[in-house]
Amino acid sequence: MKKLTPRQRIIVMVVPLGILAVGIIGHALFGTVALVIPPVLACVFLAYLVIEARHYAQLLFARQLHESRATYRQWELLYGMSEFLRPVHPLPPTRGWAASPDLLREIMTHVLENAPDCVVEASSGTSTVIIGYCLQRLGKGKVYALEHDPVYAARTRRALELHGLTAFAEVIDAPLVEHAVGGARHEWYDLKGLQTKDAIGLLVVDGPPETVQSQARYPAVPLLRDRLAPGAVVLLDDGGRADERATAARWANECPGSEVKYLDLEAGAWWLRMPFR
Ligand SMILES: C[S@@+](CC[C@H](N)C(=O)[O-])C[C@H]1O[C@@H](n2cnc3c(N)ncnc32)[C@H](O)[C@@H]1O
Repeated sequence: MKKLTPRQRIIVMVVPLGILAVGIIGHALFGTVALVIPPVLACVFLAYLVIEARHYAQLLFARQLHESRATYRQWELLYGMSEFLRPVHPLPPTRGWAASPDLLREIMTHVLENAPDCVVEASSGTSTVIIGYCLQRLGKGKVYALEHDPVYAARTRRALELHGLTAFAEVIDAPLVEHAVGGARHEWYDLKGLQTKDAIGLLVVDGPPETVQSQARYPAVPLLRDRLAPGAVVLLDDGGRADERATAARWANECPGSEVKYLDLEAGAWWLRMPFR
């Protein structure tokens, strides 16, 4: 149960006291006839409370309806993905820190339709497992997930082993190190471990966490641009956040001929296609 707001607390305490005061003063000034005023004011106040409560209940209902529809949609997408990929072990959690099912579905569709030989992820987790399954289904390609946190690197590696995906997916230990990007210093993944010679067909950017610095994900494109295949796609998660909006705008601006669009997903995402040159 939500606590009363300071405004509501003041109304609930002050109004009855005000009605009482009006009654006492009215009685002193006009005698017994003024005793009719407090019950009338109390009725008006009660009517106001009923209207406020109804309004609040309607808002609550609308919000819950919206949330249950959104949850159903995510659940439906997750179920469809799981049915299609037939994982040999339960999939790791989605949403929260992990990508939401709608973004995972977007990634899955892209990988299956475009069959990239090389996928790079900035971060690792459930998305790495899903991409691994897609590449396994295609029988070719590999996803390299850059992970700065050894705990999550070990967790994702374990998940890849449990799902039998180590031939199609690899977690690369990539501590955050300083890079010079666009005239500024940025903490981003150490790229020494990313030894693949294949051009990157898909780059999924879901890290590092926003707490690292402002526009923490911006370095992805400037640092990997030379390694992107012509027509490569970059997917940036959490596109609804101001930092990611600014990042996508900078990328589009710095990559003439690229195409950019916003994907209206649970957390929002940006889709950027590099020019075919
Ligand atoms: C947004 S998460 C990446 C999620 C990944 N794309 C997925 O679908 O699971 C970005 C980074 O946060 C870290 N992380 C993942 N889960 C976390 C958690 N529950 N709490 C704190 N950090 C977490 C990991 O280092 C991860 O690379």
